[in-house]
Amino acid sequence: MARALTETPMTMTKRLTGSRLVMAWAIAGLLSWSGLASAQADAGAQHFQKLCSACHSIGGGKRVGPDLKGVTERRSKEWLVKWIASSSSLVKQGDPDAVALFEEYGKLTMPDTALPPAELEALVAYLGGAQGSAAPERPRPPPSADDIDRGLALFQGSASFQKGGPACSACHHVSHDAIVGGGVLAKELTTAYERLGPSGLEGILKSPPFPVMARAFHGKELSAQEIDALTAYLQSLGGHAQYAQPRADGLKLLLGGSLGAGLLMALYAALWRRRKTEPVNQRIFARQTLGE
Ligand code: HEC
Ligand code: HEC
Repeated sequence: MARALTETPMTMTKRLTGSRLVMAWAIAGLLSWSGLASAQADAGAQHFQKLCSACHSIGGGKRVGPDLKGVTERRSKEWLVKWIASSSSLVKQGDPDAVALFEEYGKLTMPDTALPPAELEALVAYLGGAQGSAAPERPRPPPSADDIDRGLALFQGSASFQKGGPACSACHHVSHDAIVGGGVLAKELTTAYERLGPSGLEGILKSPPFPVMARAFHGKELSAQEIDALTAYLQSLGGHAQYAQPRADGLKLLLGGSLGAGLLMALYAALWRRRKTEPVNQRIFARQTLGE
């Protein structure tokens, strides 16, 4: 009773404003903290899009490298920062997780990331927060025969890229009998579509994350139509088994072989024009029998 009486309207408002002030402080603090955090996440998202998304998805499945959804639960923050800065150093140091990953992904070296530590942390923070696209990729409609043909022509270099990039077959091979002996410098691409999916391929073809390939296409970016055609062609290799079947080339080989053998024989005949074509004693024999 006595307490209630001593509490004048004046002191009540004072107490209220006091607690409001604390609330306001707390809210302001929270806001600026989350503002900072979201700015950091934005920077992380941008780096991810630019530097990583060609090889990694978050929740969209494996591409060139592993799906990074939940990676912050699998690995510590310190490990992630070190790995992203230079995975090859970590492998060289013999870090067991790094070595295991490197082996699992066919000894493909993830490129080093030249970002200052704060940016690397932003990237890792983004990986931790990103929910990714849980939705699997929409299956593409089967490619049209036109696209496949165009893609094949571009791949093997019988059609040239608008900006003059090199034919893919200079470095890559596919099991397709229409392409005679593609390069073996880089990976076989027969199953690339299945492994990487259309958006994985698009990422790689838009800005190749592999130093050798990036150099080859530097300043000679592929157009969207060219990427579509190449994707269609690579899709056709996985989708239609008959494209990957060896062609029945028996007759051609036989004709080619016979022709080659004939040419060689003619060459040898010409080279040894002055060889003896008859037995040594032929003339003696003729002289004697004909009574010369
Ligand atoms: C050229 C393709 C490529 C690019 C670009 C790339 N990575 Fe990787 N990443 C890989 C491969 C391949 C592996 C698997 C390990 C190996 O072979 O070295 C990997 C592994 C990882 C791992 C380990 C995953 C796990 O399961 O522990 C993390 C994390 C990672 N990458 C993050 C990134 C980030 C972040 C970026 C962008 C800054 C990036 N990567 C860019 C190819 C790439
Ligand atoms: C100068 C050589 C070169 C040329 C030309 C080239 N690439 Fe590559 N490509 C590479 C290298 C090197 C890699 C890295 C992977 C490896 O070592 O095989 C690669 C990787 C790839 C990958 C990822 C392979 C995988 O399964 O992880 C794809 C897809 C690819 N290239 C498609 C193409 C296409 C399509 C073209 C034509 C537009 C092309 N490349 C032209 C050298 C080249």
